[in-house]
Amino acid sequence: MKVLGIETSCDETGVAIYDTEQGLLAHTLYSQIDLHAQFGGVVPELASRDHVRKLIPLIQEVMHEVHLKTVDGIAYTAGPGLIGALLVGAAVGRSLAWAWRIPSLAVHHLEGHLLAPMLEENPPAFPFIALLVSGGHTQLFKVLGVGQYELLGESIDDAAGEAFDKTAKLLGLGYPGGAALANLAKNGRANVFQFPRPMTQKSGLDFSFSGLKTCALTTWQKNQPICEETQLKADIAHAFQEAVVDTLLIKCKRALQQTGLKRLIVAGGVSANHRLREAFLSLEKSGYKIYYPRLIFCTDNGAMIAYAGALRLQQNQQDNLKFQARPRWLLAELASC
Ligand code: KG4
Ligand code: ZN
Repeated sequence: MKVLGIETSCDETGVAIYDTEQGLLAHTLYSQIDLHAQFGGVVPELASRDHVRKLIPLIQEVMHEVHLKTVDGIAYTAGPGLIGALLVGAAVGRSLAWAWRIPSLAVHHLEGHLLAPMLEENPPAFPFIALLVSGGHTQLFKVLGVGQYELLGESIDDAAGEAFDKTAKLLGLGYPGGAALANLAKNGRANVFQFPRPMTQKSGLDFSFSGLKTCALTTWQKNQPICEETQLKADIAHAFQEAVVDTLLIKCKRALQQTGLKRLIVAGGVSANHRLREAFLSLEKSGYKIYYPRLIFCTDNGAMIAYAGALRLQQNQQDNLKFQARPRWLLAELASC
């Protein structure tokens, strides 16, 4: 089964074709970073308009790889995300499916992220623990199968990616800040500043990252008059990143120990973080197996939507002319297939 996947939930237009027999046949991505950078963050109306401009040309591009008549279904991101941006993908996806007389399916964006490591060679078998670390979510799930997601813990305030972005902004690194902050952290010195590991002393698997951002701000304000600015920023970035990564690691280890599971997948934008991947090697040394998406599929993309959609369309799930765009949508609400 060949499925066209469409992702337009935020500031990336992603399109791909996944074949359940041959794997990923094509994928393409357009990032709106340059468009939003001048405003220091995503401007929802501009995001929607740009998806309108880019989506059809990107679909045409991937359709060069397959014959139109061989496409069996269309999967589009229906949420969570920016409503205007979601509407573009949903309207185009649903309309094409109607015109081509094939089924379409509304896909949950986070299910796409969660299943993205399955696009790699030697994908994990179910069950496993999933750490979802995106710009909007930090969540730990016990995953028993497609659609069977038991929430074990989540951030009670900022998501890890959001904290990266906000801290980057206050250090003047602009948008999008996560990767820039991670880059700057490489020049930071270890043990100059020690930031807390929030909520690790308490039992449980919830997270809280907003305090780390405040910690970065107060450290900056206190030391800026007496320190060299470039080095100070790098040292703060380093301390911040160590605190986030260490906290995520402690909670993942706890989730693995509590459930007795041996496999962990880490997905979403922050899973692209090199320091995180380095620190998580300690879990491998303790006998756990960790799975990541390739770097380009950590952040938003069409391949993960095509893949998640293909698994569900294969089970005869489809939206039967229903048109869905859900800015708020809990992953745990997904019915199992
Ligand atoms: O999954 P994603 O593309 O979008 C959402 O669904 O939210 O994740 C984007 C997030 C942003 O917060 C971005 O700063 C963060 O992922 N991110 C990173 C890195 N690359 C992207 N955070 C830390 N280190 C990185 N290398
Ligand atoms: Zn995402």
